[in-house]
Amino acid sequence: MLRAFIPQATRIGTRSFHASRMNCIAVGELLPNVKVQIDSPANEVSSRDFFKRNKRAVLIGVPGAFTPGCSKTHVPSYLTAYSELKQKGVELVACVSVNDAFVMKAWGESLGVEDKIKMLADPRAEFVKSLDLAFDATGVLGSVRSKRFALLIEDAVVKKLYVEPDNTGISCTLAQTVLKDL
Ligand code: BEZ
Repeated sequence: MLRAFIPQATRIGTRSFHASRMNCIAVGELLPNVKVQIDSPANEVSSRDFFKRNKRAVLIGVPGAFTPGCSKTHVPSYLTAYSELKQKGVELVACVSVNDAFVMKAWGESLGVEDKIKMLADPRAEFVKSLDLAFDATGVLGSVRSKRFALLIEDAVVKKLYVEPDNTGISCTLAQTVLKDL
């Protein structure tokens, strides 16, 4: 069918990867139903189902596994805040990056996330593109990557959204910011 040859993902200026949405996912929207991987490429889960299982969840998106800011500052802020997040009703903390599942698993082990943070792999960037939270990081990291973001999610619906204005900085997406809003 002709429709099959019409690209679904178009880039309009720097604003959007998806023709259907001009801006990133918004508060009140249901998460898209896109496959992400946990621990191995064979273990795929639907993003919507995964977050529906938990009443309240925090998902962070990061530009890359093992990058200095993500490894030394961003993810560790959620490990430090983990008990407080749990006390405030967060049942699931997850981290997604455009990396393969083996890398995400190794990165989680190196950070000592144990069962506290679920490490989700989005190797083809399909999930972050579906949120319109992807950006072209070809020059630095070799591919499209996730903007640095944090989402507070309840029953798979976005309740709060934090996106770094320069895509990769660490200003408004730390656990301390999310905690203040809980
Ligand atoms: C980081 O350190 O988090 C980072 C480094 C390069 C590109 C994006 C992020």
